[in-house]
Amino acid sequence: MEKEELISLAKKARLMSYSPYSHFPVGAALLCQDGAVYLGSNIENASFPLTMCAERNAIYNAMCHDRSQDEFVALAIVADTENPVSPCGACRQVISELFPENAPIYLANLDGDIRETNAKELLPFAFQGDDL
Ligand code: THU
Repeated sequence: MEKEELISLAKKARLMSYSPYSHFPVGAALLCQDGAVYLGSNIENASFPLTMCAERNAIYNAMCHDRSQDEFVALAIVADTENPVSPCGACRQVISELFPENAPIYLANLDGDIRETNAKELLPFAFQGDDL
């Protein structure tokens, strides 16, 4: 699947966002080796810290469908930002544990700007389970 197609699926996921507090909808789409795509959008709550980001929801959605890291090949994240959206620190920590470190992560906005990165680049020197 081309990155543009994955990004367009992330845009569809963005439309499913529940973000009445921030009014900042975000969408994510995670591609697996066999072509299956798992979507996520940000879901907020009146108790603000309970909010879950789009990219974490996409990863958790895939895992709840019995998919694992060795099947993940790409992740796209989209928001209406001036520059391609940048994942928050909590998402970087989750991505670093649950997403392959060198697989492409496409950060995008609605204007067609795309920045390609990966888990290693998003969170170098990450805290890991091995450290426990
Ligand atoms: N958000 C995401 O879903 N992903 C990001 O990469 C950045 C932030 C959400 C969380 C919250 O619902 C809203 O955007 C504003 O922070």
